[in-house]
Amino acid sequence: MQTLRIGMIGCGTVGTGVLDILHRQKAQFEALGFDVQLAGVLVRDASKPRETCFPSAPLVTDPGFLTGVDVVIEVMGGVQKPLDLVLPALKAGKVVITANKAMLAERWSELKAYAKTGQLYYEAAVMAGTPVIDPLSGILRSSQPIALQAILNGTCNYILTQMEQGKGYDEALKEAQDLGYAEADPTLDVGGFDAAHKLTVLARLAFDPDYPYADVTVRGIDTIPEHAVRDALANDQRIRLIGSIYPENGQWKARVAPRLLPMDHPIARAASGRNAMVFFGEECGEIFVAGGGAGGAVTASGVVGDLINHLQGILGPKPIALAAKVPAAPFEDLPEVDL
Ligand code: NAP
Ligand code: HSE
Repeated sequence: MQTLRIGMIGCGTVGTGVLDILHRQKAQFEALGFDVQLAGVLVRDASKPRETCFPSAPLVTDPGFLTGVDVVIEVMGGVQKPLDLVLPALKAGKVVITANKAMLAERWSELKAYAKTGQLYYEAAVMAGTPVIDPLSGILRSSQPIALQAILNGTCNYILTQMEQGKGYDEALKEAQDLGYAEADPTLDVGGFDAAHKLTVLARLAFDPDYPYADVTVRGIDTIPEHAVRDALANDQRIRLIGSIYPENGQWKARVAPRLLPMDHPIARAASGRNAMVFFGEECGEIFVAGGGAGGAVTASGVVGDLINHLQGILGPKPIALAAKVPAAPFEDLPEVDL
């Protein structure tokens, strides 16, 4: 049995879920030949009460313990602070698993080299534990991409679903926060920036390995009037915040915007905190993936799934080796909500 020491950064909504699954899956890890030990969990306030079934989780406020671990799990959030903590681990050849799409999207120049070695795992960063990173970095690579459309933010999807049922925007946002869906700063969600972070991560897997976050055009849902959501429903349509990647004038473009979906669109049925993605490929056709997109348990399942992949000898997802050919034919996207 090989001992594998894990250091976790953060123990909030996602982190407590990770601790629970680590505890429950211990026998699975042992069956793979690993005694997984938790060396420490970095938090801001070690005395804060936390609901986790993990016995005696070693909560600390000094990151020094990270130098002695084999695998770092980063579920803290932010950009510079987590980067400062994971880069030394990556440089030392350790495996890093993260759910942090903001760091991945905004600091790719520092992280890409480690993604290329397969040391960096990030399935939970997009659509939580619903697998999209894995198919886009594997099986779907054989198809010539045409476009991608996705609902990537659980908070916005929850708010829009609740507004369809007559609830006000502010009340619905508060509920999404209480459910653990929203970012620490919910402007990232409702302003469309979290979806843009995730779209950038997807773009680098299937379209262009260096797609810049700054090139994503972003509109959020914070200015959508409540009546617009109900009017759409009366016309058998749904307003959803959609991230799209599509060809335009010989280039790949990425855009996040509220759009009108006909009810029979493959991603229109994703309600509440769920997410959905449809990938259009020349050879594979239309591929549809849907599932939980936010919340502690489903996100933690993606994080621990990455750990299990590592234990099984499966490397982290690599960016696409070469930018995909841009189709000449324009892609007809869904209509944007006109305010
Ligand atoms: P959260 O509930 O706010 O938890 C953040 C954790 O990080 C807390 O335990 C906090 O410590 C710790 N922390 C924050 N700043 C710190 C600092 N400067 N030093 C030490 N510890 C610090 O956040 P979350 O919802 O779990 O999200 C964590 C990450 O997962 C984010 O990158 C988020 O985007 C991503 N993610 C979240 C979800 C979701 O549904 N929530 C889904 C997918 C991805 P204290 O507990 O002591 O305050
Ligand atoms: N705040 C994010 C969301 C968490 O609502 O989708 C999941 O990444």
